[in-house]
Amino acid sequence: MEKREIIFEGNEKQVFATDDQDQVIFRYKDVTVAYNNVKRARFKGKGALDNQISAILLSYLNEHGVETHYIETLGEQEQLCRKIEIIPLQVVVHNRIAGSLAYRLGVPEGFRHENVIVDLRYNNDELEDPFINRDHAVALGLATYQELDRMYDIARRVNELLKPLFLQAGIELIDMKLEFGRASDSGAIIISDEISPDTCRLWDLETGERMDKDRFRLDLSRVVENYRNVLERLQKVIKS
Ligand code: C5P
Repeated sequence: MEKREIIFEGNEKQVFATDDQDQVIFRYKDVTVAYNNVKRARFKGKGALDNQISAILLSYLNEHGVETHYIETLGEQEQLCRKIEIIPLQVVVHNRIAGSLAYRLGVPEGFRHENVIVDLRYNNDELEDPFINRDHAVALGLATYQELDRMYDIARRVNELLKPLFLQAGIELIDMKLEFGRASDSGAIIISDEISPDTCRLWDLETGERMDKDRFRLDLSRVVENYRNVLERLQKVIKS
């Protein structure tokens, strides 16, 4: 497999074409951004940690019947992925209310609820990723109702699989953002993009300490140390 030209340059990752039209190479950078790119920093080693954590979670999903774009890890910061047509939506699953949802609903962070909440956002930097509903997404031609049903079903399944996996690692999965695409090899709706402490809220089960990107967002320090802790705990669970 041959690495070819760059086809996407994001803040936190790069995507390269390969000599296979259905495969791309994903490269995780050490750069991190927050608040719609207003806050930015570089953490040495973070790209490699995101790459490894994402590889564990995405291959776990692949092995449990949830199709994702992940194929294999190529190097410290790179993984081989199935090529997708991007669906510019974010499906956010909440097990407890935190972050912007806590602000929107006027409840304290960590608010407990019985049901699982699934939110939809339009992935659009200029509009600051606004919350939308299914009708908006269909009206804009972003996805069909059938595709949205499929994305919601997959998102709930991902949560059912990852919540207990994190629990075994002594971590509570508070919320997570998922992105989807249409696989170029089959047309199937599959999970694209990473799943990592950058895209999830992860709280230590015992201490409640944040182990995710909120450490950067809220200037809590020890960002890389916490990401490494998440990786080491997941590695232990996967090995056992
Ligand atoms: O920012 P907010 O509180 O709405 O985030 C909800 C979840 O989605 C968090 O886990 C956050 O890390 C993730 N998220 C993301 N990318 C965004 C916005 C939120 O991964 N652009």
